[in-house]
Order: sequence, then structure tokens, then C-alpha cells
Amino acid sequence: MIIAIDGPAGSGKSTIAREVAKRLGMHYLDTGAMYRTVTLLALDAGLVPDRIPEAADLAARADLHFVDRQDDLTRAFIGDREVTDDIRGRVVSQNVSAVSADAAVRALLTARQRQEGARGDVVLEGRDTGTVVFPDADVKVFLVASIEERARRRREQLLAQGVDEPFDELVADIAARDAYDSGRALAPLRKADDAAEIDTTGMTIAEVIETVSALIAAKRGPAGSTGPVGTAARPTAPAAQPAAEKWAVSRMVKSPLDSGLYRFAYSFLTPLWRFAFRMRVRGAENIPLTGPVLLASNHRSNLDPFFVGVSFPRQVHFMAKAELWKVRVLGGVIDMLGSFPVKRGEADRTAVKRALEMLGAGAVVGMFPEGRRQRGGSLGEIHPGVSLLSLRKGVVTVPMVLDGTERAVRKGLPRFPRVTVTFGAPLEVPSDALPRSERARVVTERLVEAFQRLLDSSTASQ
Ligand code: DC
Repeated sequence: MIIAIDGPAGSGKSTIAREVAKRLGMHYLDTGAMYRTVTLLALDAGLVPDRIPEAADLAARADLHFVDRQDDLTRAFIGDREVTDDIRGRVVSQNVSAVSADAAVRALLTARQRQEGARGDVVLEGRDTGTVVFPDADVKVFLVASIEERARRRREQLLAQGVDEPFDELVADIAARDAYDSGRALAPLRKADDAAEIDTTGMTIAEVIETVSALIAAKRGPAGSTGPVGTAARPTAPAAQPAAEKWAVSRMVKSPLDSGLYRFAYSFLTPLWRFAFRMRVRGAENIPLTGPVLLASNHRSNLDPFFVGVSFPRQVHFMAKAELWKVRVLGGVIDMLGSFPVKRGEADRTAVKRALEMLGAGAVVGMFPEGRRQRGGSLGEIHPGVSLLSLRKGVVTVPMVLDGTERAVRKGLPRFPRVTVTFGAPLEVPSDALPRSERARVVTERLVEAFQRLLDSSTASQ
């Protein structure tokens, strides 16, 4: 879930965003601290005011990092140097608007903020987090307060840090910054159309937090019906489904597009196959028994589709290498079993289209995203195609790991090692607020992590 809290200087963003993040166990990102750090870097390098366009370059090369603290200001570092206090000093405050109006600086920091958002649940605060950085954020809040109130709050904040600034000067500073931040051409401070505006003048911090929490709760629905504070909508299986494990393995569940041949093969092969390989199947309850499922499995043996197929009672339509269709009888059989070809090593649009059609009809599509069999128990590189399919609305992507199948055939002869099949929880898909390529990258990363975790747990259970 992505929560964007914007507003002018001193409107209470930091306090509120930090507290909301703490309550929900989410990351917190103070984007103002990022602009302030780049401003300090530019000031130190003598780039302000005449050479600001060089600041982004300098910042891209500097090792800037930020550590969010639940009870205090975000800590900022330039390399090993901690600049947490320096970036809040008067000189930085007076120059940050000019530096943050630079297009290259904004492009650099916006990209970085989106990356942080890709980590999952995050509360961002700033000026443009709901309008530019995450225009599709799950919850958007725009905080305002009278200028006097904001100056008073800033003064208290500074006094707590041992800095005594005259009230009038703070009012003047804030007014100047408001004018600059709202008036600039690029990503000006403005309320997003769909943001909730809260005037915090005269409200206590607790009251503002309550108001924001209520907005978030309303978005998440009753008892968190949009899933856990997940990274946006986690695809959930329809409720009240019987768990796959409770089904007799020999009876297939009716599934769209299923074929008589598969049904027949399933019913006689499954008990035999499971018995012969003393198969252990764990986590099958992660497979919804209705609706579209994208199944992503690791790949070690030519027999893997069989191991996948006998692991749960729905027909799996495999995306299989096109070469198999050239083997005369085999091609016909796998066709009748509902598999479809993919040309490896290229972006095969026809295969993707077929997969989407099948998912659209509510079927299970099986893929081996490593592309080819892997030796030695390790994982191969994951092809991005699977990520693009899994971003399709309503599709549940379930990772699974086969362990032991690499020993099922030796020198062309069958063997009967013990085989363990482990299904993982459906992958959480990143928020729609991220650009598509970034979302696909995150899904691939999550898939790799899930495979690794499942492999580790499978090995540990041997
Ligand atoms: O929130 P703050 O006062 O620490 O932010 C410092 C400055 O950074 C602010 O005057 C404008 C700029 N800023 C921005 O341009 N965009 C953001 N998302 C956050 C801050």
C-alpha cells in the first residue's frame, strides 16, 4: 500500500507520516530530507545559486542514503558523513526551493522515491508525492494549516533542537517557501484532485492521526478486505474455497478449458505417479480451485510437467518449448493435453496472447520461467515474461518448487527418487502506482526470493 502525504512547510506532514507509518508497520520516506540533502551537497560544492543545473550530476555520483527512524527525524548521510542536523539549518532551508525546482534534481529524486516505493508498504511525505511520484497512490492526504500556526510549530521544533529563530523571520521564510514551491513550473505544490484535504490548524497531532488512519481504514475496507497492508491489491482467491489438500487426488476439479484426455490421464496417472515417487506435496492449499492461476515452477527434468500436473486437481495448461511440437506424436498429445508452444529466446507474442486468453477464461497456466532445465539444484535466471503475465488484473501467481525430479531419469532410464513439491503463497503484486517496467522488475525479484525460500525449506525437510 502506498500512502502519499503532501502539504506546505510546517503543515505537520513529518510528524503525521512518521506516526502513521509506525502504527501500520510501514516504511517512511521523507522526500523533503532528500531535497535538503542534495541542496547541502550543492551548497558545499559552490553550485548555488549559479550552477544549480550541475547539482543532479553531483548527487547521482554521491552516495546519499536515508535511514527512517520511527521516533525522530529521518537520518541523512552523504557517504559516511551524517548530515541529519545540517540539512535542517537555515541556509539549506533558504536554498532548498531553488535547488528542488531544477528538473534534473527532480527526475533523479523522483526515480529514487519510486524505487523506495517498490520496497512495498510505504508512507511518503513531501510536495508532489501524490501528484507526480505516485499519482495512483492508495491513499492521498493534503495537509494545510495557517501560516502563523506553521511558524509556531517550526519554532518549537527548532527550539527543541537548541535553535532559537525569531517568529517573524520564520513566518517570512515559510511564506517565501510557499510561494516558491507552489509557483514553480515543475511539480508544484498542489493538492491532487483525489487527495483528502485536512486543515490541521487548531487540531492536535492525535486528532490528525485519527483522521488519516480513518481514511486508510476506509480504503482497506472491512477487516482488511483488500488483503493485509499488502503491496497494493494482493490477489485473493474467492472466499469459501475448499483447500486443495482436502480433495481426493484422483478427482479433478472442473476447470474452464479442461479436456477429456487430461481428465482421463489425471485420474489413472496421479495415484500411481504419486506412489512411485513417494511424492510429498506441501502448500497445495495455496492454489485456488477456481479462477485464473499463473503457476511458476522451477525446472529440472523433462518429466516436470507430470510432477506439476499430479500435484493438484486442476488442469494445467503448460507453456512448453516449441521444439516439442516437432516430435510427431508427442506434439499431438501435448496439444490435446492443453499445452501450447513458446519460442524460446525471443519475445513470443503469440504465446503471451494464448496465455492471456487462457487466464482470461479462468484456467491455470503453467510456466517454467527459467526457460530451460537447471542442473545442480541451483536456480536459473528468471525470464521477465512471467512477471508481465502475473501483473494481469485478477491473476493469482503461485510459485512452486520441485525437488528431486532431477534424479527421475538417469542415462535415459527411469528411476524413482523421492520427490517433494512445495507451493508458496501467491505473490503479492506491486502497487499500480509504479510504472509497469518497475512492477515487472519487482515481481521477478519476488519470484526469485520465493523460489529460493521454497527451495531452502524443501531441502531442510529432506
Ligand atoms: O518538507 P521540507 O520542508 O523538509 O522540504 C524541503 C523542501 O524540499 C521544500 O521547500 C520543497 C522541496 N520538496 C519538494 O520540492 N518536493 C518534495 N516532494 C519534497 C520537498
